[in-house]
Amino acid sequence: MITVENLHRHFGGFHAVDGASLKIETGSITGLIGPNGAGKTTLFNVIAGRLPPTSGRVTMDGEDITGLPPHELFHKGLLRTFQIAHEFSSMTVRENLMMVPASQTGETLWNAWFGRGKIRAQERALAEKADEVLDFLTISHLADERAGNLSGGQKKLLELGRTMMVDAKVVFLDEVGAGVNRTLLNTIGDAIVRLNKERGYTFCVIEHDMDFIGRLCDPVIVMAEGKVLAEGSAADIMKNEQVIEAYLGTGLKNKQAAETA
Ligand SMILES: Nc1ncnc2c1ncn2[C@@H]1O[C@H](COP(=O)(O)OP(=O)(O)OP(=O)(O)O)[C@@H](O)[C@H]1O
Ligand SMILES: [Mg+2]
Repeated sequence: MITVENLHRHFGGFHAVDGASLKIETGSITGLIGPNGAGKTTLFNVIAGRLPPTSGRVTMDGEDITGLPPHELFHKGLLRTFQIAHEFSSMTVRENLMMVPASQTGETLWNAWFGRGKIRAQERALAEKADEVLDFLTISHLADERAGNLSGGQKKLLELGRTMMVDAKVVFLDEVGAGVNRTLLNTIGDAIVRLNKERGYTFCVIEHDMDFIGRLCDPVIVMAEGKVLAEGSAADIMKNEQVIEAYLGTGLKNKQAAETA
């Protein structure tokens, strides 16, 4: 579904992504792992149109999508999750979901709902869709809660829910598990698997929690120093000596940094 060919993203003289090439197969839940600073988030930002690449190419279903802005990618079904924006935290969970289709087409709610005649019907359809999404994610009880009051994990679920308000094909998740308790992490994992199996979503998931990666992802791609270091099943990756070395390497560097600090 997605191919990345010899992608570079430099910040001044620093090569955050340094010639990365990879494929995300249709229907897969592909894991992307690697030590801190490996360039994973930068790679996501380039694929999702948030940062232009220095060079290289990204395609989706064979079509060149390099450097397309996020809203165009959104229309093609390529989504990445974002943290719930500050200005939405005083809105309810249901309202946050109802915002998604309008906000992503660049229309304000005002235009979308009140500029035309079909106000009520549109609003009802959006609310129904939002409730369906909340039901799928098993968080119906939070529909009327303010988004700002949700726990970290519940916010992650809501982020995932936002991808379900439109017809997503491929979803990029950056550290969905960070700071999330086990129970909610399992709920998030289950939702990802169900979206993959029942709705045909393709996923690319960055995560440091190897249990989570091992349970969900095949294949797993390992990045280090801006390049793809290895790819394989989670079990193979965890035995791969180059991979172990890459992690230990940064472990050592971190240790040295901590000691000199
Ligand atoms: N806007 C920027 N300007 C300068 N350097 C940047 C910028 N964004 C990222 N970097 C650097 O690029 C490198 C890769 O960062 P990136 O966030 O992509 O890593 P990562 O693999 O996502 O790491 P982590 O696991 O810690 O999230 C880091 O050294 C980072 O400091
Ligand atoms: Mg990152």
